[in-house]
Amino acid sequence: MKSFYITVTVIVGLSLLLPSTGSFASAHEKSRPVKKGILLVAFGTSVPEARKAYDNIERIVKAAFPDVSVRWAYTSSMIRSKLAKQGQPLDSMETALAKMMDEHFTHVAVQSLHMIAGWEFHELQRNAAAFGAMAGGFDRITVGGPLLASQEDFAKVTEALLRTIPPVRKPAEAVVFMGHGTSHPSNAGYPALMYYLQRKDPVVFMGTVEESPTIEEIKQMLTARKVKTVYLVPFMAVAGDHAANDLAGEDETSWKSMLSRAGIKCIPVLKGSAEFDDITAIWVDHLKAAVSRWEAKP
Ligand code: CO
Repeated sequence: MKSFYITVTVIVGLSLLLPSTGSFASAHEKSRPVKKGILLVAFGTSVPEARKAYDNIERIVKAAFPDVSVRWAYTSSMIRSKLAKQGQPLDSMETALAKMMDEHFTHVAVQSLHMIAGWEFHELQRNAAAFGAMAGGFDRITVGGPLLASQEDFAKVTEALLRTIPPVRKPAEAVVFMGHGTSHPSNAGYPALMYYLQRKDPVVFMGTVEESPTIEEIKQMLTARKVKTVYLVPFMAVAGDHAANDLAGEDETSWKSMLSRAGIKCIPVLKGSAEFDDITAIWVDHLKAAVSRWEAKP
């Protein structure tokens, strides 16, 4: 059993590195009408105001693929059960794919709306591959990578993020982005992104809620550079719970409170990254690549 899982992980891991192998054909292809679908997979949010970021992605995806049906899945079971209690049921990725299979979809592209290829993205990729291996299932199922899926993406995300900074910000004022952070080694993407950002603008910082760079580390960098004012901006698809509480909340452990205590004036900008079309375009490029792999030889 153990070696089986290792093999699956290796194959799935390779499919990210080699896009042409990222499609999984059913061994059971019959002649049947082509039915194409896109499944957008996000962590999810129960903050109604935050959902406009997802609405923005959906609008742009539907415009790019007018003939393809677009569905949603949330990976967070906590968010799904909270929403279900409010009468707004949302599917997990696995339930959504099972429904699409039952409805005879032949070509499916699963698009991750994650920022980095952490645990959640790898689970998504592994389970999408498992659906591809099922008899009588999809002819093709491909996966679109998260926002930072390739080295090229770091340059693209850097440019796009710098364009999201409010124009009223003065050059001496700093900008601190809040990423989520993860124990997965892909967490290194956050400090790496800060490196690229600072080559363009030396007072733009990237911290994370869960890991390094921590807000403590960022605070030390800000005070060393004698920064007086910071814009606090989420680096997450939606400005949900983390943005409202950990970033800009009144609690003494929020980033706003911690930096304010250090004498730094904080200006929170509570907009999710997916509210910006420039950022969303990068996810949509990954989706276009996943759709183009429908045609690739398995
Ligand atoms: Co979290």
